[in-house]
Amino acid sequence: MPATHQRLYINIDHVATLRQARRADEPDPVAAAQECERAGADGITAHLREDRRHIQDDDVRRLAATVRTVLNLEMALTEEMLGIAVSLQPYQVTFVPERREEITTEGGLDVARDPRALRDGIERLKRAGIRSSLFIAPDTDAVARSREVGADAVELHTGRYAHAPHEARTIDALRNAARQAATAGLAVHAGHGLTVRNVGPVAAVPEIEELNIGHSIVSRAVFVGLEKAVHEMREAMRAAGR
Ligand code: PXP
Repeated sequence: MPATHQRLYINIDHVATLRQARRADEPDPVAAAQECERAGADGITAHLREDRRHIQDDDVRRLAATVRTVLNLEMALTEEMLGIAVSLQPYQVTFVPERREEITTEGGLDVARDPRALRDGIERLKRAGIRSSLFIAPDTDAVARSREVGADAVELHTGRYAHAPHEARTIDALRNAARQAATAGLAVHAGHGLTVRNVGPVAAVPEIEELNIGHSIVSRAVFVGLEKAVHEMREAMRAAGR
């Protein structure tokens, strides 16, 4: 069983989704981030989407100023977002694909589409002292290309697994991609669609050092509060040996 501590970063986007449903000032995702940190989160993740459907620019500014653990900023690879990241200096940027019509980030980055732009974006972040991670499907080609463009880490998309956790091929794909990435010297993260019920086998993959989890924790918090929701997720990870 892997002995190393696995980091739990909590994505607080959907606290902002609830606020934006009324364009009101509550619930505040920054206050939620603080509550998650008090409950033991190792980091806070927020996705500043180009359409600003949940997290707003001011949220990211306040998160950058108040997060005591680390801030992982998810964003598309655009000039505007790179400028925001360089000025706010999050600990880490995770590049994600964005399509305006999607409900959530549905697929991994197409690392083959414009490797030069990715390499330049990663380089720009590196010069600013910001670590970069690429949100990719768990496949051989995407992992190999992520290394070629100079990323520090990959975040393996667990969506397919979350939809079919009992199909061996979905967890096998994650295990294989995690091993390949770690062997290539990349840090390995994972996330999307993880819940206390399905997180176990992913948490148990020894190379995966960080999980990014949002929707299920925020959903559970409606009934039991954020602190307990975070503790329940930690407990599920602990039960898997992390
Ligand atoms: N990681 C990335 C890169 C994401 O885009 C998301 C969803 O915003 C998550 C993790 C968290 O997914 P979920 O909200 O399903 O836990």
